[in-house]
Amino acid sequence: MISASAPGKVILFGEHAVVYGRPAIAVPVPQVRATATVEVAPGGEGLTLVAADLDREVSLRGSSPDDPLAAIARLTLDHLGQPEPDARLVVTSTIPIAGGMGSGAAVSTAIVRALVAFFGRELPPNEVSRLVYEVEKLHHGTPSGIDNTVVVYERPVYFVRDRRIETFSPGAPLHLLIADSGTPSRTKEVVAAVRARWEKQPARYDFLFDRIGEVVDEAREAIEAGDVYTLGGLMDQNHELLRKIGVSSPELDELVEAARYGGALGAKLSGAGRGGNVIALVEEFAADEVEEVLRAAGAKRVIYAVVE
Ligand code: PMV
Repeated sequence: MISASAPGKVILFGEHAVVYGRPAIAVPVPQVRATATVEVAPGGEGLTLVAADLDREVSLRGSSPDDPLAAIARLTLDHLGQPEPDARLVVTSTIPIAGGMGSGAAVSTAIVRALVAFFGRELPPNEVSRLVYEVEKLHHGTPSGIDNTVVVYERPVYFVRDRRIETFSPGAPLHLLIADSGTPSRTKEVVAAVRARWEKQPARYDFLFDRIGEVVDEAREAIEAGDVYTLGGLMDQNHELLRKIGVSSPELDELVEAARYGGALGAKLSGAGRGGNVIALVEEFAADEVEEVLRAAGAKRVIYAVVE
C-alpha cells in the first residue's frame, strides 16, 4: 500500500490581484491535509478512485472528462507514460472544502504523488505543480496558479503569475487563526464576477490591484524582517482593498472586526471571498482569546496555524 499527502494553504496577501499579474503571498497549512492511498486491485478491474469523505466512487473508465479526480489520475498516467493500473486509490482530507484552503489542489497533489510512488517513479515539484494546475482550471476557470504552487512546494511563496517560483522564510514565526465563516466560497463565480467588474471599470480595478500589489511587497519585507506589527496593519489594508473590489461580505467583515476587537494584530478575508475564511494574525499569548471571540462571532471552525 502506497500513501502520499499534501497540505492545505491560505493566501496571506494579494488574492484576486494575482489573477491580473500582481504578486501574492501564500503559506502552507500542514495542520490540515489531503491523503491518497493506492492499493493493488484484482486484475482487469482498472483504476477506481474513491473520495471517502464524500462517499463517491468513480472508475477511471466510466468517468466523465471533467471529473477532477479522474482528470488528475489520467493526466498523471499520461505524463508517466503508464497504462491504467488495476488499483484502488482512496482519498481522504481534513481540509475544509470551498473554504479557500486549497482542498482541490491538495487532493490533486496527493493523487499525483501516490500514483508516481505506486509506479516507483519520481517527479520534480514543478512537474507535479503543472499537472495539478491543469485540474485547477477545471475547478476555477482562470486560476493564477498560486494554489498548486504553495501546496506542492509546502513553503511560503511569493508568487507572480508566469514567473519563477520564489519561496521564502519568515524572520519570526507567524501565528495565524483561520476562521471559517461557514458559507462556501465559490472561487470560480467570485473570480468571474470580479472580471466582469474589471471589464466595466478597468482603470478603477487596475488601480486597486496595483495598491494590493504594493501592500504585498511591503508585507513580504515585514514577514522576512519578523515585523508582525507592521504585518498586521498591512492585513487590515489588504482587507479594505478587497472590500473595495467587492469580494467581502457582512459576515466576513464581522469576523474581521471581531478578530481585531479580540486583540489580533490584523485580519482579512483569505481566498476568493464572499464566504470561506478570515485569517487573523495574533501574538502567541493572545491566540486563545482571539479564537474565543471569533467563535462567539459565528466562526464555524477555527484552525490555529504557526508558519515558520
Ligand atoms: O483560495 P482560493 O482557492 O479561494 O483561491 C482564490 C484565489 C484567487 O486569487 C481569488 C484566484 C486565483 O486563481 O488566484
